[in-house]
Formats: sequence, structure tokens, C-alpha cells
Amino acid sequence: MATTTRSGSARVPFVLLLALMILHKPAGLAQAFPYRSLLQTCQPNGSITGKSGKCNTQNDSECCKDGQRYTTFACSPRVTGSTLATLMVNSFAEGGDGGGAAACTGRFYNDSQKVAALSTGWFNGRSRCEKDIVIRASNGRSVRAMVVDECNSMKGCDEENNYEPPCPNNIVNGSPAVWDALGLNKDAGVAQITWSDA
Ligand SMILES: *[C@@H]1O[C@H](CO)[C@@H](O)[C@H](O)[C@H]1NC(C)=O
Ligand SMILES: *[C@@H]1O[C@H](CO)[C@@H](O)[C@H](O)[C@H]1NC(C)=O
Ligand SMILES: *[C@@H]1O[C@H](CO)[C@@H](O)[C@H](O)[C@H]1NC(C)=O
Repeated sequence: MATTTRSGSARVPFVLLLALMILHKPAGLAQAFPYRSLLQTCQPNGSITGKSGKCNTQNDSECCKDGQRYTTFACSPRVTGSTLATLMVNSFAEGGDGGGAAACTGRFYNDSQKVAALSTGWFNGRSRCEKDIVIRASNGRSVRAMVVDECNSMKGCDEENNYEPPCPNNIVNGSPAVWDALGLNKDAGVAQITWSDA
């Protein structure tokens, strides 16, 4: 009896398995289509035409060139507990390469203060204003920084943005204090990091 029961119950899962395989085949195929993953990632929103101006190049800022097209983004990659980003160095001090005063607070921050700016999608309509994020470097060090500004992925090539192109969609701008706390070389100016909401 026990044998019969076992073989009987074994037959049902096999039939179920077949049915499941047939049912899931279209989903499996759809997943393999490349456009599916493209639809899920952050796509460009449009572009703007470059205009040159008074661009502070002290820290190797990229300045807009007249007539060049620059891509804009309204979104950023999905935020996870460990979101991959490019860390750039940015001074939030008056006269620094950050351009105008911080969007969240309308003030400037000296280079000893641990503050950050996020690409438009991550800035998320000010929802992270004056909140801390944790930035982790690949050397294992991490730092808490307060979000005070937007790295605008929709606008650029104007005075407010130091006549720099629109921000890519995956940028964390860190003040010099952030770079120092992470033990990173500010002269490099760019580092791969991960970040999360604190
Ligand atoms: C660009 O972004 C704006 C604001 O989020 C949105 O209304 C518009 O539909 C977007 N356009 C494209 C082409 O993605
Ligand atoms: C350039 O970066 C240094 C720190 O690395 C900072 O003290 C200085 O204010 C920055 N200059 C500008 C114009 O942003
Ligand atoms: C930077 O600002 C902080 C907070 O306002 C202040 O405590 C600190 O003394 C300032 N540091 C410098 C070097 O100006």
C-alpha cells in the first residue's frame, strides 16, 4: 500500500511539473527578450543643446560646449540597500564648483562638512533633503553624509549649474570632507561607490 501511495503521489507532481513547464514557457521566453530589461532600466528623457559660459574649472569640471547635445534623465537606477553609483568631488562652498547654493536649504557648506548631492532621480523631488545617506567605498570605509543638493540630470549649461552639462543619472556628489572620511584621493575626482538611505 505504501508503495502504491508513493508511486501515485509521484505521478501527480510529474504531471504538475509538465503543466507548469508549459504554462511558464511564455514568461521564460519574455524574460529572455533584451527589450524587457531595457524597459526596466532608466532611459534618457531627452537632450539639451549646450551653451558655454562662466564655468569654474578649478577642479576639472567638464564645461558645456556651444551647440553640443547633452542627454537628460528624469530617473535614476532603482535604489536598493546597496546602490551602485559614481562618486564625484564637489565643493558646496560659496564660489565653489557646485554652482549656486544647495537646493534643499538655499545655503552653502564649507569643505569640512559631510554633505552630498544626488542625481535628479535619486533626489526624488526633495524627498531625501537633509536626510543622511551612507556612502561605502570599495576600500571598506563608509561615511554618513547629509543630502543637501540635487545634481540636476534635467538641466545644465547655465549659471546655476556652473555651465556644466546635465548630471548623469547615477551620481553622488560628495564634499571634500566625504572624500577625506572615505580615505579617497580627491585628485582622482571619481570613484565607484555604493550608497543607501541611512
Ligand atoms: C521627461 O520627464 C518628464 C518629467 O518627469 C515627463 O513628464 C516626460 O514624460 C519625460 N519625457 C520622456 C520622453 O521621457
Ligand atoms: C576644489 O576642490 C578643493 C578640495 O579638493 C576645494 O577645497 C575647492 O574649494 C574646490 N574648488 C572649487 C572652485 O570648487
Ligand atoms: C564649517 O562649518 C561648520 C558648521 O557650520 C563649522 O563648525 C566649522 O568650523 C566650519 N569649518 C571651517 C573650516 O570653516
